Amino acid sequence: MPGETIPVPRAPGHLPLLGHAVKLWRDPLGFLTSLRNSGELVRVGFGSLPVYVATSARMVQEVTVRQARYFEKGRLFDRVRPLVGNGLANSNGDIHRTHRRLMQPLFRQERLATYADTMSRRAEALAESWAPGQVIAVEEAMSAFMIGTLAETMFATDLGQAAVEGVRRDLPVILKNMLLRAASPRFLDHLPIPPNRAFDAAAARMRTVIDDVIVATRQAGTDDRHDLVSVLLAARDTDTGVCLTDTEVRDQVVTILFAGTETTASTVSWALLELGRHPEVEHEVVQEVLEVVGDRPIALSDIPRLGVLRRVLDEVIRLYGVTLLMRRATADVDLGGHYIPAGSEVAFSLYALHRDPSLFEDPDRFVPDRWLPERRTRLQREEFVPFGAGNRKCIGETFSWTEATIVLATVLRRWALRPLPGHTPRAAASAMAHPDHVPMRIEPRDRTGPRLSGTI
Ligand code: HEM
Repeated sequence: MPGETIPVPRAPGHLPLLGHAVKLWRDPLGFLTSLRNSGELVRVGFGSLPVYVATSARMVQEVTVRQARYFEKGRLFDRVRPLVGNGLANSNGDIHRTHRRLMQPLFRQERLATYADTMSRRAEALAESWAPGQVIAVEEAMSAFMIGTLAETMFATDLGQAAVEGVRRDLPVILKNMLLRAASPRFLDHLPIPPNRAFDAAAARMRTVIDDVIVATRQAGTDDRHDLVSVLLAARDTDTGVCLTDTEVRDQVVTILFAGTETTASTVSWALLELGRHPEVEHEVVQEVLEVVGDRPIALSDIPRLGVLRRVLDEVIRLYGVTLLMRRATADVDLGGHYIPAGSEVAFSLYALHRDPSLFEDPDRFVPDRWLPERRTRLQREEFVPFGAGNRKCIGETFSWTEATIVLATVLRRWALRPLPGHTPRAAASAMAHPDHVPMRIEPRDRTGPRLSGTI
């Protein structure tokens, strides 16, 4: 490669030495969203590191699907390797393929039905614990809920209680510092400043507590146990005969905790907030839940019948998606006529992609209606990819959809959550565009209100 190639434009606002780092730190979401104005592929600099950013659905598809074989996970993932090791989100090549096959059974339909029972029971308990007039920090409540569900479905209850507590305490500290650490120069990791100390201590404690569970589970034996740790310890790949080592099991567990909590918690928190702001949509959601499920616990089989809630979740995840993902080219690549040399880092933002006005009309508005079957057909598959695409697509997609639907349906049929005046939650860039703070007041649900006509 190549004779004639199209030069890649550089994003405006580049500073000597710092590149675009200041812009990224000041307003990461605004900066990432602005890049599409410079082209489908844009060059930015984080300190000394040049990064190509794919800003169109076509380019993201090239990197994640069509030319995925020429890409591995990039720098963002290298920087979290000390924490998640070679877990599924971080590994490459044959290791990734084999480990993905080993993990897949954990996310099959029959397992999801069991997880759904746990989620439903926990959601009922959460709704039961609230009182009229109480003000809750929704983002904290949801984060605790998601961590608790994963911990309960991952660790056998008799062996994992200390791990559940440890994860509840330490994971929020780690998640809070994650993206900042991933986008910062490496030397900053070693400065003895409080965020670094808190991050390192929390990461070390979490690894230890999970290692303890693994040792205890091995000693107790994995026969007839269905928790994630037991299943991973017992798994053997039929093609290669490969089993996971204890360290690999720990890396997978940490990866799932890391990938599966803030993402779902953020989605559910935004959904509650948007529904609190749009009572007419909320009314539709509640009516549907009452018609389809009534007051019994919500089961996996109910979920496909909750179409209104599904549209709300699609819209929330479009508006508040994954902020930044990265790949590294393992060979010279041609991206839409641009020459990208081997070793280059390529980034893309699903958050920015899903707010592209050429794909979504009025992209910053919450309009669940746009997901009505007759309207969504206009959208190409590659234009809405909240869970990624290709061989690295999210393994937890159905898990998170199930959990989000169950917790929302369970809570909303009983309570109305109202945003407190005086505070407008802002999207902060972490793994997701998660809300900074969502205080809401709990009010008993009035089910007698008139049925609103039409669909949302
Ligand atoms: C709303 C919730 C979620 C969103 C938006 C989300 C999004 C994503 C995205 C975009 C990727 C692809 C990353 C890339 O291409 O580099 C991914 C990968 C992954 N996700 Fe999720 N995720 C969610 C929930 C979950 C849950 C609940 C779990 C686990 C229980 C999970 C586990 C994973 C894992 C292990 C990977 C790596 C897969 C691989 O590389 O083979 N995620 N997720």
